[in-house]
Amino acid sequence: MQDVFEKGQFTATSKWLHWLVALIVIPMVFGSFFLDDIPKLYRSDIIGLHKSLGLTILCLMIIRLINILIVGRPPLNIALWEKILSRVVQYALYASLILMPLFGWAMSTAAGRPPNFFGLVVLPFPGITPDKALSRLLFVAHHYTAFVIIGLLFLHVSGAFKHLLIDRNGVMASMLPSRRQ
Ligand code: HEM
Repeated sequence: MQDVFEKGQFTATSKWLHWLVALIVIPMVFGSFFLDDIPKLYRSDIIGLHKSLGLTILCLMIIRLINILIVGRPPLNIALWEKILSRVVQYALYASLILMPLFGWAMSTAAGRPPNFFGLVVLPFPGITPDKALSRLLFVAHHYTAFVIIGLLFLHVSGAFKHLLIDRNGVMASMLPSRRQ
């Protein structure tokens, strides 16, 4: 298993999954607070896109979790407290990036508007029927989880830049494209 992490690098699959999720999540988590401000003409299309991208994140996160469980990750050569903190933040991010789309998906189904995945197939959340009170409750969960994700992203990005700029170790580089020799 050791040579999978040649030079302490994450595998190419892990890197692709990491940056693809980041590319979708960052605009979604910050931009979605303005969904109400979108002109009526485009609003339902944009919310439809939001739902499809959210379900895409759910799929990517499940694949990422399975990938980490099977392949693992390169060893982290940093202080124990930093190792513990970074793992806690990473696992909390995984959990919230799986819970967030589940809340959104269940909320939309309970509101009677299940997602139509990129216009291809309508996907109601299994076992959920229209229920206004449940939909309101899930909206609150969806709303607050966004702030948890923002807080965790702040810690995660700060840690990455501390490794890059202050410690100048290879932690940030391990998730960047590796240079061909
Ligand atoms: C990681 C994935 C997701 C992120 C980061 C995300 C983020 C957000 C945020 C920040 C809001 C604004 C909350 C507010 O105004 O208080 C929102 C609203 C919403 N989200 Fe998500 N979401 C995700 C996945 C989903 C999914 C999978 C669905 C449904 C299938 C969904 C459906 C909705 C709906 C219906 C709204 C309310 C739109 C409105 O009426 O204003 N979201 N989302």
